[in-house]
Amino acid sequence: MTDILAAPKGKRWPSVLLARALARGSSTDPTDLDGATAAGAFAGLRKAIDELGPAATIATIAASGLRGRGGSGFPTGEKWRAAASTEARRRFVVANGYGADPAVQTDRTLMERDPYAVVEGLAIAAFAVGASEGIIAIRSEASQAVAALTAAVGEAEEAGFIGPDAFGPGRDLTVTVRTVQGAYMLGEETVLLKALAGGRGQPEQRPPYPSQEGLFDAPTVVQNVQTLAAVPWIVINGPGAFAAIGSKASPGTMLVQVRGHQRSGIAEVPLGTPLHDIVALGGEATPGRILKAVLVGGPSGGLLPAEALDTRYEFDALRQAGAHVGSGSVVVADDRACIVDLARLLTRFCADEACGKTIPCRIGTRRLFEISDRIVTGRPRPTDPQLLVDLSHDIVESALCDHERLATLPLASGMRYFRAELDDHILRSSCPAGVCRPIALATAAGSR
Ligand SMILES: Cc1cc2nc3c(=O)[nH]c(=O)nc-3n(C[C@H](O)[C@H](O)[C@H](O)COP(=O)(O)O)c2cc1C
Ligand code: SF4
Repeated sequence: MTDILAAPKGKRWPSVLLARALARGSSTDPTDLDGATAAGAFAGLRKAIDELGPAATIATIAASGLRGRGGSGFPTGEKWRAAASTEARRRFVVANGYGADPAVQTDRTLMERDPYAVVEGLAIAAFAVGASEGIIAIRSEASQAVAALTAAVGEAEEAGFIGPDAFGPGRDLTVTVRTVQGAYMLGEETVLLKALAGGRGQPEQRPPYPSQEGLFDAPTVVQNVQTLAAVPWIVINGPGAFAAIGSKASPGTMLVQVRGHQRSGIAEVPLGTPLHDIVALGGEATPGRILKAVLVGGPSGGLLPAEALDTRYEFDALRQAGAHVGSGSVVVADDRACIVDLARLLTRFCADEACGKTIPCRIGTRRLFEISDRIVTGRPRPTDPQLLVDLSHDIVESALCDHERLATLPLASGMRYFRAELDDHILRSSCPAGVCRPIALATAAGSR
């Protein structure tokens, strides 16, 4: 199990997502329903059904300001309203527990530690939008999470929280746990829905959004498991209590995977926390080294310099800074790292994972990688920086899915904050970090 990192000394970070799991302690069985209900599980669902009703439940979630934790930060209440107001005989709620970034364990850890938070959040969403079918999609390698959710769904059904007549006579909720296996793109909601429908696929142009036309063309609320796990807490404690945590534009908390030079683990962080507080959890740099950059958002994330660590960890501020929340990953690099080489490796990942449907993305991301590759191997052209800018612009302009919009970020942020290092490679054939040894070789070969 991944370590849960405590808040920095002197700070009190409230817990929403792991609150019940932490209250019960790590030695208890997270799938024990009696223990979970004693800690408050399903009280939110009962309140939604017995006191609020569907419309007020949606209004509660909208008023809380909850935004999707799967990366985009889309307002959850708005999504639920769209699904509820679309005429249909059948509606679905899909919990996205795929966890596309292989280096990030946050969703998996949540599902292992408190599977009932996800089941209850999904049930409340289904009740609110009028869905009778729920699916929890989990990457098949996450066997512990699959086992926890499968057991939790069975227990919850036996107790009548879900299943036949869950929302009243004749109002059923069928919940199934589905394992899925695939590449990075499978976490994207339209690809995931195709996989759940039994096919393989590439992203679809939106609109129509899945909330209007999703699984089997029915309105489908696709929600990250962390988003769903926040829902019971909001229903019980009220939207105001949730909005009081985090920042005004991004209320609540999020699980962040921190990889520092001293520690790695997962922390539940109030959104709006300055990046330096998150970085401090893992340790800025090993003794004798200095922090050079922080990769925020996963493989398509932004490389931010030490001077940008005042940036608040929340959807809008990170975007403005040239990064994004993405997979919830924060990785620290010290002065031994070459930013150009790092950006090159990340761009290669993004190019390899592009599904190929859109030509500017398929060819453009590959070209971005090739240009960065020739820069780090001592074969740059003077026009390369401008070419990177123009090509990135064209790629973003033609974006079909978010992957394309984000795949340019490692290089774009690298150029924005570490331009001098790029120029050293191009104009002086020098890699200040000493990482790009082929530069030296190419230079020596050229001078012979
Ligand atoms: C390449 C790519 C990978 C993604 N992977 C995931 C993922 O692993 N889990 C997830 O919840 N959302 C992922 N998303 C975002 C989903 O498409 C979708 O926005 C999200 O599941 C909606 O839930 P939310 O509103 O609760 O965030 C990914 C998006 C892209 C473009
Ligand atoms: S933008 Fe890229 S990843 Fe998205 S559909 Fe097009 S080729 Fe596939």
